[in-house]
Amino acid sequence: MGQQKMISVLWLACWISVAYSLHNRSRIVILVPVGEAVAISCPLLSSQQSNRNVTWYRNGSVIPLIADNYLRIHQRRNLLWLIPAKIEDSGFYECHIGNSETDGRELQVFENDDGLYFNKNAAYVQKLPLENNGNLVCPDLEYFESENSSLILQWSKAYSPGLFEDQRFRALEYILSINNVNESDKGIYVCQTTYTYMGKWYNVSRAINLITYASPLKLPQIIYPKNNSIEVELGSKVLIECNASGDTQEIFTAWEVNGTELEEFDDTLRVETYSHVSLSGKWIVGTKFNISVVKNKDYLTFLCFVWTPTFEGAAVYIMLQRPTKNIQGYLIGGLVSPILVILAAVLTYKIFKVDIVLWYRQSCQPLFRKEVSDGKLYDAYVVYPSNVANCMYSSDIFVLKVLPEVLEKQCGYNLFICGRDDLPGQAVITVVDEAIRLSRRVIIVLVPDSYSNKVQRDTNEQQIAIYNALIRDDIKVILILLDKIKDYANMPEPIKYLKQRHGVLIWKGDFSEQSQLATTKFWKNVRYRMPVRHSPPSLDHQLMPVTLTATWISEG
Ligand SMILES: *[C@@H]1O[C@H](CO)[C@@H](O)[C@H](O)[C@H]1NC(C)=O
Ligand SMILES: *[C@@H]1O[C@H](CO)[C@@H](O)[C@H](O)[C@H]1NC(C)=O
Ligand SMILES: *[C@@H]1O[C@H](CO)[C@@H](O)[C@H](O)[C@H]1NC(C)=O
Ligand SMILES: *[C@@H]1O[C@H](CO)[C@@H](O)[C@H](O)[C@H]1NC(C)=O
Ligand SMILES: *[C@@H]1O[C@H](CO)[C@@H](O)[C@H](O)[C@H]1NC(C)=O
Ligand SMILES: *[C@@H]1O[C@H](CO)[C@@H](O)[C@H](O)[C@H]1NC(C)=O
Ligand SMILES: *[C@@H]1O[C@H](CO)[C@@H](O)[C@H](O)[C@H]1NC(C)=O
Ligand SMILES: *[C@@H]1O[C@H](CO)[C@@H](O)[C@H](O)[C@H]1NC(C)=O
Ligand SMILES: *[C@@H]1O[C@H](CO)[C@@H](O)[C@H](O)[C@H]1NC(C)=O
Ligand SMILES: *[C@@H]1O[C@H](CO)[C@@H](O)[C@H](O)[C@H]1NC(C)=O
Repeated sequence: MGQQKMISVLWLACWISVAYSLHNRSRIVILVPVGEAVAISCPLLSSQQSNRNVTWYRNGSVIPLIADNYLRIHQRRNLLWLIPAKIEDSGFYECHIGNSETDGRELQVFENDDGLYFNKNAAYVQKLPLENNGNLVCPDLEYFESENSSLILQWSKAYSPGLFEDQRFRALEYILSINNVNESDKGIYVCQTTYTYMGKWYNVSRAINLITYASPLKLPQIIYPKNNSIEVELGSKVLIECNASGDTQEIFTAWEVNGTELEEFDDTLRVETYSHVSLSGKWIVGTKFNISVVKNKDYLTFLCFVWTPTFEGAAVYIMLQRPTKNIQGYLIGGLVSPILVILAAVLTYKIFKVDIVLWYRQSCQPLFRKEVSDGKLYDAYVVYPSNVANCMYSSDIFVLKVLPEVLEKQCGYNLFICGRDDLPGQAVITVVDEAIRLSRRVIIVLVPDSYSNKVQRDTNEQQIAIYNALIRDDIKVILILLDKIKDYANMPEPIKYLKQRHGVLIWKGDFSEQSQLATTKFWKNVRYRMPVRHSPPSLDHQLMPVTLTATWISEG
């Protein structure tokens, strides 16, 4: 987008340079190597399209050089041609218009240095300030172009191949532009083309000796913008400004938008330029315009070009944007809110998971009832440390009174409780193993010191139950602690493992009526871990162990 404008800016700079060189042209000697084609224009004619007739003379001669194309030196299109030039052609050539106007150019034909395509002592001197951008101009070659429009000019620097690998160099026809000229850019540059005349090829070249000098002038500094974007509401008013500071007033600015000049983009915009000297002695140059009512078409990038006669130009942009809150609103509406809804749903489920599952089971219970039996007799097998001394431990009350009250009476589960449902005298291991096999869950009730201060029977029972639960993964374990345990490190390894795998429920209730309600948080959590009830609670669970015992006996 900015490219076109950059080129037009360059052209302007180029034009200034050319005009500059034209101004002093009559004083500049034409320097050409021997054997090349030369065309000399009359300084009296500002353009070759002039209808005025020019007559050329060699200095001191009264015989005009005539318009005979077959002569080596002849006049054609008001130009004097020497094809090719010889050493003896060096000298002054006069051009006359009418009887009164007369001017001329000096030509110097020289031999190139040995083995080279230039003579370092016969080169055009061009000076460029350091640390600025500058142009080298290939002089007096434009006449060859009008003869053959496909003139291709090649630029090179003596002893330095690959000139254009340095990005600071750019060739534009007769101009070689150099960005940020530095000391090492000094030297001989050659611009070269070929010219065909009467079926013969001739070289056309100019050697330029670039001399650099410390510039009193620095590059202008762009103050604002620095490629910013500004947010403006539709319909509001905005002032767009661009300014720079430099050593002279000769700093030029121009606006471009959407690849065209500002006035072309919108002819209602009025650009105002200003310049003044700042307190620090620098020139401040700026350009600004108002967009009184911002329309949709105005949300574009406005390019500001800044250049000086010796500084080819820089571009900065300022971008108009819609306020971002619209974008945020869109994002929240279109993207963020569904994520929030999902998050909220996940959180809600995490928090109310137990209630949701219990509610679901309750409302869909009729469906589960129709399920085929899984061959299990008990919903849970309960393991607990029974009393050590003769006094009633809280675990006994919990397991023998509270647990049946809630899970059996209120929820209709069918439990196998060791010590209640087994018959005395039976081989404990057989009973336990068989009962666990017939249970859907194992409830392990732990009293804080039950694992450190236990009788042998409990240990065996528990160990077998735990062992079974551990090796038969299909049975789920519900760990209930009757008190907070401060130090889990003292627990036996299997318990630690089960805690990690299935979690632990802590009974903090007393033995009041209140804490024996199936709707309290603790019991909801137990019920959540319990299986879906398979059979209606009408079964007489008290009879089950008897039947069971009978089978063992018959088996044994
Ligand atoms: C152009 O000519 C003027 C005098 O007419 C001189 O002061 C100036 O230095 C010349 N410029 C160049 C680039 O030779
Ligand atoms: C220029 O010369 C041509 C013939 O050589 C002549 O026809 C023409 O009138 C002349 N023009 C002027 C302006 O003298
Ligand atoms: C033209 O030639 C004369 C003598 O022939 C000489 O004095 C004069 O300096 C020359 N003019 C130029 C501009 O070379
Ligand atoms: C222009 O140059 C090309 C080669 O670049 C050549 O073939 C052609 O003859 C030239 N035309 C004229 C009018 O000299
Ligand atoms: C000039 O600029 C070129 C390219 O940036 C760099 O390689 C070179 O060293 C510079 N020379 C001096 C004298 O600063
Ligand atoms: C033209 O210049 C090149 C070097 O740039 C040289 O090799 C060639 O011989 C020259 N041609 C003529 C006809 O002088
Ligand atoms: C340059 O333009 C900016 C933006 O409008 C402004 O704030 C600043 O005052 C201007 N600087 C000068 C030196 O005028
Ligand atoms: C922009 O508008 C303000 C007031 O609305 C006015 O003072 C200023 O001169 C205007 N600037 C231009 C460049 O039109
Ligand atoms: C910008 O330029 C393109 C073509 O270069 C044109 O199609 C488009 O309408 C222009 N936009 C505006 C807002 O002028
Ligand atoms: C601003 O952007 C232009 C091109 O769009 C770039 O050439 C220039 O270096 C940038 N300037 C800054 C200060 O980023």
